[in-house]
Amino acid sequence: MVRIAVVPGDGIGREVIPVAEAVLASLHPDWDFFDVEVGYARWQRTKTACTDDDISALKSADAILFGAVTTPPDPCYDSVILRIRQELDLYANLRPVKGEGFDIMVVRENSEGLYSGIEWRERDRACTVRVVSVAGSTRIGRYASRLAAARGVPLTIGNKANVLKSDILFREICSAEASRAGVSYEARYIDALALDILMHPDRYHVIVTTNIFGDILSDVAGYLVGGLGMLPSANIGDQLALFEPVHGSAPDIAGQGIANPIAAVRSAAMLLDHLGYAGEAERIEEAIQSLLHSGIKTPDLGGEATTEEFGAALLLALGF
Ligand code: NAI
Ligand code: MG
Repeated sequence: MVRIAVVPGDGIGREVIPVAEAVLASLHPDWDFFDVEVGYARWQRTKTACTDDDISALKSADAILFGAVTTPPDPCYDSVILRIRQELDLYANLRPVKGEGFDIMVVRENSEGLYSGIEWRERDRACTVRVVSVAGSTRIGRYASRLAAARGVPLTIGNKANVLKSDILFREICSAEASRAGVSYEARYIDALALDILMHPDRYHVIVTTNIFGDILSDVAGYLVGGLGMLPSANIGDQLALFEPVHGSAPDIAGQGIANPIAAVRSAAMLLDHLGYAGEAERIEEAIQSLLHSGIKTPDLGGEATTEEFGAALLLALGF
């Protein structure tokens, strides 16, 4: 039996994940969905945000549907999602951004870079080490190059090699992987790329980049498709995969029932695609489009629907 770990997390994660889970459960009533509670709310209650048992539970699943967790800017609190990505070795973070006339996949290195977790505080400064390894760059460069080859598109390598020695290595390795996969490639500085992706989104297809640059670039690209409420993502490893909206726990709107569940539902669609149900993923996207065309949207898109109303309409559109 297919087992799906469901992690609502904090804030609007608890509002959007039930919508995404309902879609999955309607399509696959025979699957086993089990909840894993991690995050800041749990930490506030119990002083632990995520235990080793939680990690084991996640590892036992066929796939993970994740909402969002709050990470307070507290030097004593370690990010839960970073721990999960590292312990499950989910090294490829795929962030698709699709719209009228463009279809971009940001492939973000997800295990090292500036989010290596190697950091410390001294009396008069704080340091974070940016790790770019040969092994880490090779596997993400290979993943992105193969994706570009499969799609028949060129690869863009987002980097800052003009300033960072670590990115000279990243760029060299990704270029070599692109050549090996037989795809053409172009290296672009990440700052200029962030602007150009907004001005000419049709020029980009698969973009590979290091951890923090991919984090920022995909949020920026959200501008092209109506904001963070629209963007799904996949965190892929060799054994496991976790699917989550790009957005966070949105404390500014949490509890109001107005969060846009599309990013979470699209993440569930990516999960289905990953498990071999590409046709169902397409059906979900068509249902989302039909709702948007008929004006059923949450307030971030200028509509008046609540999260639950959108979810109910989506299940109807899917024929449930
Ligand atoms: P955020 O993504 O939670 O919110 C940014 C802005 O976008 C807010 O104005 C929010 O209302 C809006 N927004 C986000 N998702 C939306 C949705 N589905 N529908 C409508 N509006 C939406 O980012 P922020 O505010 O920087 O971070 C809040 C918390 O989330 C922080 O504790 C942060 O660490 C955490 N976070 C967690 C992530 C994860 O679990 N993977 C990813 C990003 C942030
Ligand atoms: Mg982010």
